[in-house]
Amino acid sequence: MRTPLVAGNWKMHKDHREAVELVRELDGLLAGLEGVEVAVCPPFTALSDVARALEDSGSPILLGAQDVYPAPEGAFTGEISPRMLRALGVRYVIVGHSERREIIGEKDELVAAKARAVLEEGMVPILCVGETLEEREEGKAVSKVRHQLEAALSAWTGDEVSTGLVIAYEPIWAIGTGRTATPEDAQEMNSFIRGWLAERYGQEVASEVRILYGGSVKPDNAGELMAMPDIDGALVGGASLKAGDFAAIARFRG
Ligand code: 13P
Repeated sequence: MRTPLVAGNWKMHKDHREAVELVRELDGLLAGLEGVEVAVCPPFTALSDVARALEDSGSPILLGAQDVYPAPEGAFTGEISPRMLRALGVRYVIVGHSERREIIGEKDELVAAKARAVLEEGMVPILCVGETLEEREEGKAVSKVRHQLEAALSAWTGDEVSTGLVIAYEPIWAIGTGRTATPEDAQEMNSFIRGWLAERYGQEVASEVRILYGGSVKPDNAGELMAMPDIDGALVGGASLKAGDFAAIARFRG
C-alpha cells in the first residue's frame, strides 16, 4: 500500500529563525503520528537550520526543497545544485510548480531536466502538474496534464518511476484561492494520471506511485480529499504555515 505523503510548501515565507520555530512546533504536534509521511519544504535560506533542528530532535519529519538547478555545479549564479540539497539531507524536491512555470517562465524541458537531476542524486522529485481555469473551462485539463507528464517523464524507466517519483496534481485555479477542487474532480484527474502511468509502465508500477493533490487544502477538506482512492496525500501551501492547521491535515485520518 502507498503511504500517504503530506508535504508543506512554504513558498517564499519564513526566514531561517521563523522556520526553525515553525518546524519545532510542528514536530511537537505530530508526536505519535504513524502511517503518514510528513515533509516540509522551507525556502533555501532556512534549509540548513531546519535540517539541524529536525536532526537534533530526532524528528520523523522529512526535508524537502522547493526547486533545484539541473547541473552538478558550475557558473549558474543564484542557483542551487542537487548535490547541495542532498548534503543537507533533503529527500524531496518540488519541480515544475505552477508558480515557477507561470511567474518565472520555466519550460517543460527545464522541468524535465530538474526531475532527472533530482532522481540521479538519489532524491525524489515532487513533479507538479495542473491546468489553468481557462484550460479547465475549455475542456483541456486532461490534455494539459498529459502533455506535462509526457514532457517530464519521457526519459524515465518503470523502476525509476516506481521508486523515485511523486506526482502532485495542482489545478492552478485552486492554488491560494480558497477554491478547492471537489474530491471527485481531484480524484478524476489523479485517476487519469495513474492510468497514464499504467499505460506506459504497467499496472504494478502505476500502483506504487504516490499522486498528491494540492490547491487550498485545509484541515476541513483534507479528509475527504485523501479518502479518494487515487489521492495519496497533499501538497499544502498556505495552511502549512500554521503548525496547528498543517498538523491537523497530516492527521486527516483523525
Ligand atoms: P495553497 O495550499 O496555498 O493553495 O497552495 C498550494 C500549493 O501551491 C502547494 O504547492
